[in-house]
Amino acid sequence: MKNMMKKAVVLALAGTMAMGIFAGCGKSSDTLVMATNATFPPYEYHEGNSIVGIDVEIANAIGEKIGKKIEIEDVEFDSIVAGVQSGKYDFGMAGMTVTDERKKNVNFSDPYTTAVQSVIVPEDSAIASVDDITSDMKIGVQQGTTGDIYASDDYGEDAVTKYKSGPDAVQALLAGKVDLVIIDNQPAKSYVAANEGLKILDTAYAEEEYAIAINKQNDELLKEVNTALSELQADGTIDSIIKKYIKD
Ligand code: ARG
Repeated sequence: MKNMMKKAVVLALAGTMAMGIFAGCGKSSDTLVMATNATFPPYEYHEGNSIVGIDVEIANAIGEKIGKKIEIEDVEFDSIVAGVQSGKYDFGMAGMTVTDERKKNVNFSDPYTTAVQSVIVPEDSAIASVDDITSDMKIGVQQGTTGDIYASDDYGEDAVTKYKSGPDAVQALLAGKVDLVIIDNQPAKSYVAANEGLKILDTAYAEEEYAIAINKQNDELLKEVNTALSELQADGTIDSIIKKYIKD
């Protein structure tokens, strides 16, 4: 009995120590874990071995202001909100549109930029404007995005094929598996520039705001992020980061 107790104490201690070690190499107090989905140029995408883009640079600028290092986790877009909600990630930044539905699960920072949805079609497509889109067409989207939500609402779930990423949807379009892709305007431009034979139509969807998703319990981080964002907006940093990537 005595021995068993000892064993239990030793095991408990070992467990606590192991947890300490794991905590030490995971989130430390001077690091913020940012969840993103790096398939979305110019906001976040892979370049060689690193993830770069507007969101990455804005996040790093915020991190500098609040004295934290930013560690990026590249995950599925539609797992970001849940991961922020559960505390797995400190924040989510992924060209993420503020929606009422998402607001039920996370807080959003002040918006840092805007976007609209675009339609990508093959150059020789009979679809000349959004009015030509009908629910018997095949529409490709990135799963869980606003493009997915709008397309499903407007043309019905049956018309919509959900892909893991924008590039996957665009590959399906090139292969003739879908007739069009609905996705945010800037990534749409990048995808079209990177692939031959595609063009872009504008949609009637309203302007969206991109913001940073933060855990509802973490008011302190929300405040810090908003203060940093407003300083970075005021001194022109955000503008120059965006201009570096978007040359219109
Ligand atoms: N703005 C859209 C949304 O919030 C699409 C974002 C996709 N972002 C990404 N990094 N893949 O639903």
